[in-house]
Amino acid sequence: MLCMDSKWLLSVAPMMDWTDRHCRYFHRLLSKHTRLYTEMVTTGALRHGDVKRHLRFNEEEHPVALQLGGSEPEDLAYAAKLGQQYGYDEINLNCGCPSDRVQRGAFGACLMNEPQTVADGVKAMRDAVSIPVTVKHRIGIDKIESYDFVRDFVGTVSLAGCEVFIVHARNAWLQGLSPKENREVPPLRFDLAYQLKKDFPQLTIVVNGGIKTQEEIAQHLQHADGVMLGREAYYNPWLMTQWDALFWQSKATQLSRESIEEAMVDYMERAHQEDACPWYAIARHMLGLYHGQRGARLWRQVWSDHRLKPLPPREVWERARRAFVELEVGKVDDSEMAMVQSRADIVAGRFVHETPEAHLARLSAM
Ligand SMILES: Cc1cc2nc3c(=O)[nH]c(=O)nc-3n(C[C@H](O)[C@H](O)[C@H](O)COP(=O)(O)O)c2cc1C
Repeated sequence: MLCMDSKWLLSVAPMMDWTDRHCRYFHRLLSKHTRLYTEMVTTGALRHGDVKRHLRFNEEEHPVALQLGGSEPEDLAYAAKLGQQYGYDEINLNCGCPSDRVQRGAFGACLMNEPQTVADGVKAMRDAVSIPVTVKHRIGIDKIESYDFVRDFVGTVSLAGCEVFIVHARNAWLQGLSPKENREVPPLRFDLAYQLKKDFPQLTIVVNGGIKTQEEIAQHLQHADGVMLGREAYYNPWLMTQWDALFWQSKATQLSRESIEEAMVDYMERAHQEDACPWYAIARHMLGLYHGQRGARLWRQVWSDHRLKPLPPREVWERARRAFVELEVGKVDDSEMAMVQSRADIVAGRFVHETPEAHLARLSAM
């Protein structure tokens, strides 16, 4: 392993609308060491919006990085300072997002065309804060395929003091592709990211893009200092439970999906007491918890059933658990979607006050 600074060994990517504080709380239950990133927060939102809403997070989330979107050095410095005041462990600048909205604001991936602007922003932020300032970027823009482009970008920005680069190893096509397509269509070229590590051995280079398995992670760590996962971590979060032991050589902790689910129910109750936060704003992030397990679909349907919104989360949890009981006694076939739907209706909607014994008795009688 090459790692210059193991703080970046493994991380979960910044993802708009996904990696909010509730999601990060959930992910932290699965891995103690994995670095977590916020959704992108624009400097404009921090200048003119509700700062607390954008920046608050749970103490448990550390280590946690704030990702900023912006390009004006003064605004970036202001936002970075706020991030440090709120207690974030890192400020990350988004130079990889290709969305139209971001392009209109002249930041995100289009900043790769202006390495000096990025360097000025990085310098302003570094002057304003003492926590690390890092950059997340692509390997090219539109049809620019040459390695020189990303090498010069990293070279210029590193001169301003950025020491950590998170490389989403595909181009961003600024015209003609949606943000979603821009995460799938331009080909992944990890060799360019590996080459950055060779040319800038003093920098921490983290690779990102389409990485899904522990084997792939281990493979990338032969060539780069860290690996960042986005979608796979979100859809299949249990993957993370092995990371502390596998990659940080820290003692393996015995976790069960049930205990994580219970901890999340506790968290939902606390969030409701403290902020009147509805449980479903939190539960939506844990729908991958049983990914690949028998009964996952049925369980997921209970936790995402909008008819259950008025119920307290503990009751929804009980119903979700009953979904597994139904499977155990063979009354539900998890592989058949239509049937699952109707069974989910039963689990979710009726027999609310049934004891487990009565529940099993009813099922045996069916
Ligand atoms: C729903 C969603 C939202 C995203 N939002 C951001 C963002 O706010 N900032 C950012 O730098 N990247 C964002 N990304 C890109 C991811 O950080 C990551 O670079 C990309 O998904 C590739 O990694 P993956 O293949 O492991 O998902 C987003 C991705 C997804 C799926």
